[in-house]
Amino acid sequence: MVNRVLSGMRPTGRLHLGHYHGVLKNWLELQNKYDSYFFIADWHAFTTHYADSIDLESNITDMVVDWLAVGINPNTSTIFVQSKVPEHAELHLLLSMITPLSWLGRVPSYKDQQEKLKTKDLNTYGFLGYPLLQSADILIYKAGLVPVGNDQVAHIELTREVARRFNYVYGREADFEEKAEMAIAKMEKKQAKSYKVLRKAYQEKGDTEALVRAQALLKEQKNITLGDRERLFGYVEGVGRIILPEPESLLTKAPKMPGLDGQKMSKSYDNTISLRDTAHEIEAKIKHMPTDPARIKLTDVGDPKKCPVWQFHKVYSDEQTCDWVKNGCMYAKMGCIECKRPVIRGIQVELLPIQERIAEYHADQSHIKQIIYDGSQRARNVAKETMTEVREAMGINY
Ligand code: TRP
Ligand code: SF4
Repeated sequence: MVNRVLSGMRPTGRLHLGHYHGVLKNWLELQNKYDSYFFIADWHAFTTHYADSIDLESNITDMVVDWLAVGINPNTSTIFVQSKVPEHAELHLLLSMITPLSWLGRVPSYKDQQEKLKTKDLNTYGFLGYPLLQSADILIYKAGLVPVGNDQVAHIELTREVARRFNYVYGREADFEEKAEMAIAKMEKKQAKSYKVLRKAYQEKGDTEALVRAQALLKEQKNITLGDRERLFGYVEGVGRIILPEPESLLTKAPKMPGLDGQKMSKSYDNTISLRDTAHEIEAKIKHMPTDPARIKLTDVGDPKKCPVWQFHKVYSDEQTCDWVKNGCMYAKMGCIECKRPVIRGIQVELLPIQERIAEYHADQSHIKQIIYDGSQRARNVAKETMTEVREAMGINY
């Protein structure tokens, strides 16, 4: 079993260099190692933008075009749209039945965002449920790893708690122990014995290493069914059958890409360079960037550490150029416009091939629609399987 990775983005705006360096490059690596699912969280867009008229359809296709243009591979990764897999909504509803309100109210983003987006009324049922919908997105694919930024870690934590509660409440079949013992009997003798030893070590001594080893052992088992595997996962932990496994967050390192003003690059700070900005727009934006305020005249010495342009050099320039910047700035040997030139060039060179591919994909909208359709079909097949198990566990299989 290859571990499954899942992550999503809301289609609320253009992708920029912050997304590219902070998120997409990470996805590019993950897609070669894991069974990867990348999706557009269009329903999530309504949790905050319910009253704004945004052209979701073009935002979604543009986003997929940009993903493909940076190298997300639709043949190996599953690219889909949340609303094309309505099972997410069904799981969200069912999970809402067991989720205490207090768990949702204490997710930090709930209050933070209400503070930040004061012009909007976010006292809605949907907004409170935002992280639970996210939990459904993750659990419905039984994803093991969820690459996210720091601000989302609490959502993954909630997902783990909800999964644990679900398994606890609905994983307790009447004949659970008997079924688990029967499943052990189906394993190869030696493996079955190790499983028992490891289970005992975990249950009696809380040996977490044994737990991890037991889980690894189960993942390798080929001659047991999925249902039995879930039972045996739960049997080690002593919780009942694990129907919805707990995911882990894969923390994306601090964003390498600062914004034009030195803060984090983000649409809400209006400090972005879009993946689709023209060479001319890139040049104009960098030329307008603030620099070390101490450098008013050419003869004023400066300090790169106090300048957001330096942050860009660290992403785009080689060592030699960085030395040239430090020297030129600290000894007032060059002007800021000159210093900015290699950055302008660096971004233009990086984005040129991406923009060529964007143009190609953009010209073939039916191809994009097909990719979304195929990916969503694929995702839906997995989601349907999980929902069959969920309904069965809850006794809604009549
Ligand atoms: N909340 C995420 C964000 O704003 C988007 C998202 C929705 C997501 N569902 C998800 C991310 C599931 C990872 C997994 O970035
Ligand atoms: Fe910034 Fe470069 Fe100007 Fe120094 S010379 S202040 S690093 S732009």
